[in-house]
Amino acid sequence: MRNFKVFSACILLALTAISAKADNVIYKDASQPIEKRVEDLVARMTLEEKVLQLNQYTLGRNDNVNNVAEILKKLPAELGSVIYFNSDPDLRNQVQRQAMEKSRLGIPMIFGYDVIHGYRTVYPISLAQACSWNSGLVEQACAVAAQEARMSGVDWTFSPMVDVARDGRWGRVSEGYGEDPYANAVFGVASIKGYQGNDMSDSQRVAACLKHYVGYGASEGGRDYVYTEISPQTLWDTYMLPYEEGVKAGAATLMSCFNDISGTPGTANSYILREILKNRWKHDGFVVSDWGAIQQLRSQGVAKDLKEAGLKAFTAGVEMDMMNNSYDKHLVDLVNEGKVPMAMVDDAVKRVLRVKFRLGLFEKPYTSTTTEKERFLLPANLKIAQQLAEESIVLLKNDNNILPLTKQSNVAVIGPMAKDKLNLLGSWSAHGKQDDVTSIYDGLVAELGKKVKLSYAEGCEFDGDNTSKFAEAVSVANKSEVIILCLGEKKGWSGENASRSTLALPKIQEDLVLELKKTGKPIVLLLSSGRPLELNRLEKLSDAMLEIWQPGIMSGQAVAGILSGRVNPSGKLSITFPYSTGQIPIYYNMRQSGRTHQGKYQDIPTTPLYEFTHGLSYTNYEYGDIKASATKIKRGDKLSLDITVSNSGKMDGKETVHWFIYDPVSTISRPVKELKHFEKQLIKAGESKTFRFEVDLERDFGFVDGTGKRFLESGDYYVIVKDKKIKIELD
Ligand code: BGC
Repeated sequence: MRNFKVFSACILLALTAISAKADNVIYKDASQPIEKRVEDLVARMTLEEKVLQLNQYTLGRNDNVNNVAEILKKLPAELGSVIYFNSDPDLRNQVQRQAMEKSRLGIPMIFGYDVIHGYRTVYPISLAQACSWNSGLVEQACAVAAQEARMSGVDWTFSPMVDVARDGRWGRVSEGYGEDPYANAVFGVASIKGYQGNDMSDSQRVAACLKHYVGYGASEGGRDYVYTEISPQTLWDTYMLPYEEGVKAGAATLMSCFNDISGTPGTANSYILREILKNRWKHDGFVVSDWGAIQQLRSQGVAKDLKEAGLKAFTAGVEMDMMNNSYDKHLVDLVNEGKVPMAMVDDAVKRVLRVKFRLGLFEKPYTSTTTEKERFLLPANLKIAQQLAEESIVLLKNDNNILPLTKQSNVAVIGPMAKDKLNLLGSWSAHGKQDDVTSIYDGLVAELGKKVKLSYAEGCEFDGDNTSKFAEAVSVANKSEVIILCLGEKKGWSGENASRSTLALPKIQEDLVLELKKTGKPIVLLLSSGRPLELNRLEKLSDAMLEIWQPGIMSGQAVAGILSGRVNPSGKLSITFPYSTGQIPIYYNMRQSGRTHQGKYQDIPTTPLYEFTHGLSYTNYEYGDIKASATKIKRGDKLSLDITVSNSGKMDGKETVHWFIYDPVSTISRPVKELKHFEKQLIKAGESKTFRFEVDLERDFGFVDGTGKRFLESGDYYVIVKDKKIKIELD
């Protein structure tokens, strides 16, 4: 039957191709090169048809598949795109049918959605993913998301977010890959590969969207949607790299940013959009505005009305209007008034069509109907989600090797996060369901329940001042040998428009720790959050601490694996944990300062509580010295560096080696350390592994100026791995 279906589909396709050829309709002819098809189609379009291709509306949030007639009335058949909130292929297909059959030229719509860390199989938030330092695994997880999304009618995800973010107060810090430009570049590229694969027309892949181009992470005071002060030098040093690499990796689309970049909002910024992205980097896909961002140009003070906002955004290089109703209302007039050249409209439409052709939407506009069981939560997908959750968890502290819990037979599991499911999903959890989540408590019961007596108390709520549940928690703790205390943030405390003034947990949670400390029982603190936390007080009260982030549906299995010792923790921080919020901005790759012995805080330490890449293991790793193929080199030479790491403990483990460089003297002052390469390998107990860094001198020792021009200067460079350092002299 299946073969018959495939056979008939092929025949149909062949017939369509033959008839397209017979009619000489190049854009319908799948055997023609995409560029020829694009040119042909644009040449046939009216201005009104072109403009509608450049707009995106929404579909599905409150729409009912049984009420399709009403839905179709709201959506012009010529519309370019919708954000598809539903997950029903049938609703998509009915809307798509209108585009294919009721519009004059039969141009398919592209269905976009925020598939940020999984579609139904929700895996850890991006900030956590980066702590795994396992880019191959991140690629696999994104491929899972792509499969579930595409099979549900989504062609395009608004992900990855590669905004370097160093202020944990900003809620969107959870959506990116942390504070380092290189890490954001590597994970961004991995995620693009996972979403798009080698061929976006595959029925299990989607188009990616690099966002939010660029500098959104610099939001002042960690508040969302506000001004960002970014000098040209910092723009290039810190924020551009992940976008440049993402474009090189073939990201089909980009989303422009909300923020105002030193006076010119990203949505109206022709320097970043036209001069750099399109002219210098030769990106040939399209840019979508962020939601309502064109309208916002008015409140940002650069446009007097929606028409002027549209003019500014469009001419700057934003091709698709997401929920602004600016292009659909005003672009035709702007062209007729001579303010927007037709050639610019044609170029914009071509970019949108190119992506649609690459997605194969003209040949396969419809989504096959499958059951949820056929597309969601497949066993192989759950395995990937679990492994990523396990590898993302960071062991911050483990006094007296209290973890793993191998000896205890009586364990108290306490805290508002212990039986919680919803909050472990994190923000932007797409079609994730709390019923799919294994809670920490349930995970522990499944893993340890046969050998260990587990007792539970909630202890307190996430916030507020109700201490009435403390007594029960103390009594449960008193009857056990160790306390697993599960604290953290609700999912709505991070993500978009979720800024906080402090990284500390609410007082009620800290008070619960103080209360339990009085029992004298060892405390293992499990922290679930979408941002780095202020832990200086809790660190003193606990024996072990694990940052588990928001691990997704496989939370319980992952946490239980780490606590039981089935899994050796291998996560390392992708963002600095400040000693206290007042240290912000604090990040490892700060520029060098004039007086290293002074300029310290009088009231708190000046160093963070946990540095970037901090993360413990249940085994011990010993690092040898760095060996270089040469220590005196000239431009054009090859340089490779090796370091051997031995696992001298008793447990197999995965270790990530991070390679940093330091350029002490340069025309433009460089940061104290810059990450240039990393690699994770399994090292069995008693064995050693060699890690290698093949240096590309221009890329790794060079630097950019405020125009993005790359320089390589002669002089001394240091390559650093942990406390090992080697000097390389470049002639
Ligand atoms: C967010 C984007 C998101 C878009 C569509 C905006 O508010 O800033 O990240 O992709 O909405 O949902």
